[in-house]
Amino acid sequence: MTVTLGLDLGTSALKGLIIGEHQAVLAEAEAPLSLSRPQPGWGEQQPEDWWQATLTVAAALKAHNPAAWADVAAIGLSGQMHGAVLLDRRGSAVRPAILWTDARAAAEAEELNRMLPQIGAIAGVPAMASFVAPKLLWLARHEPETFAAFATLLLPKDYLRFKLTGNYATDMCDAAGSLLLDERSRTWSPAILESLRLDPGKLPRLYEGSEITGQLTASAAELLGLKSGLPVAAGAGDAAAGAIGLGAVNDGDAIISLGTSSQYFITTASYRPAPADLIHAFAHGLSDRWFQMAALLNGASVLTWVAGVLGRNDIGELLSEAEAAFAGPSNLLFLPYLMGERTPHNDPQARGMLYGLSPATSATEIVQAVLEGVALSLADAQACLRHAGSDPAAISVTGGGSRSAFWMRLLAAILDKPLQIRDGAEKGPAFGAARLARMALTGETAAQVCTPAPLRFTIAPDPALAAAYAGRLTRFRAAYQALKPVMRDGV
Ligand code: XUL
Repeated sequence: MTVTLGLDLGTSALKGLIIGEHQAVLAEAEAPLSLSRPQPGWGEQQPEDWWQATLTVAAALKAHNPAAWADVAAIGLSGQMHGAVLLDRRGSAVRPAILWTDARAAAEAEELNRMLPQIGAIAGVPAMASFVAPKLLWLARHEPETFAAFATLLLPKDYLRFKLTGNYATDMCDAAGSLLLDERSRTWSPAILESLRLDPGKLPRLYEGSEITGQLTASAAELLGLKSGLPVAAGAGDAAAGAIGLGAVNDGDAIISLGTSSQYFITTASYRPAPADLIHAFAHGLSDRWFQMAALLNGASVLTWVAGVLGRNDIGELLSEAEAAFAGPSNLLFLPYLMGERTPHNDPQARGMLYGLSPATSATEIVQAVLEGVALSLADAQACLRHAGSDPAAISVTGGGSRSAFWMRLLAAILDKPLQIRDGAEKGPAFGAARLARMALTGETAAQVCTPAPLRFTIAPDPALAAAYAGRLTRFRAAYQALKPVMRDGV
């Protein structure tokens, strides 16, 4: 029996999952992580907390299924992308990691795009505040002592790899999310490193997702209760690992992930940059494959937010009420940009907006407008992808939002695309990481291991509803454009 472990370092939790024969899940566990916001718009975590969460998850997995734990033969890693982890010569963090949610480097992102106008063509997308490259410029300017002191730069999940193997290594997808990678050649970009005055000796070694990056050290093995010397596969940034878990590994395979943030992701057989559309054209977690992705900072979290504001804990009940009251498109227009937005705006200062309130507006109508607003932002992303040459026939939807049949009905109509709900989508990127570990261990191919998750059902767009929503996207875009100056100056 081939047993592998996938670890996914998320933003709000670290998840571990063991798979065995026929990739059946043998055990799953999670440990929560908290996010520190030292200033508005900032987002940081302590790398040491990630390691402690790993030990907690390991203990829980071992307790759930001791036999499976004893059989683990390889480990794969996945995690939140774009975070800057800076270590000193001894491998200790010189400061907390600056995460993908952190918008402090907005001005530096603009500066980098001016300094190196071809950066979008090299690195797959223009610089945005989320990415590592502008964060390094920010550090050089605002924390010169930190910038001078760090000896190694890692992506978040690769800190776990360092604790597991003692090696500094990353995979192509996570490397892409740093904005330091030359996507076409899958090597660090000399032009980008030069413009940041970044010594290439400070960067981790690059591997394809199913390559072995090192072996579990004796001390890590003892802490985890695993065998020393186990291979640790490169794994992949969570966008690609999620796709690998669902089997979206062939040209044109499309996924929408409707979680805290949202991604509209399409696998491509070649590097297909479209920087003007703010599409992320990044290396996939499998060799010879890339993807085009619209990355949205807002998703199902916006529904959680509105439920909180309305004082409603039971989101399922709220959705049932909205569905029961549904009588076609709402009279409201909602911009869902609570966290700013990446695709298609690259605007960290964008904010949410609700237009059309009247004395007749009800809480249920506001909930419907929120569902429509998130769906419209995905339709806007879909238009960017179409312009960039990707127009999938059907899309698999995952993440918390995909559990609402009502929301999926609205999304299918607003995108005018069939949506597919698949079994086991909730296993997420940890499953993709465990699959990459299996490939590293057995030498099996992606075609053998990364099979599509079984289709549960398809939601076809209702033609009448699609027609009723047809003009909405134009008005949604116009509302953002009209409000952009207000958002820039604040209220
Ligand atoms: C991808 C992205 C998110 C983070 C969050 O570009 O920003 O998927 O990786 O986990």
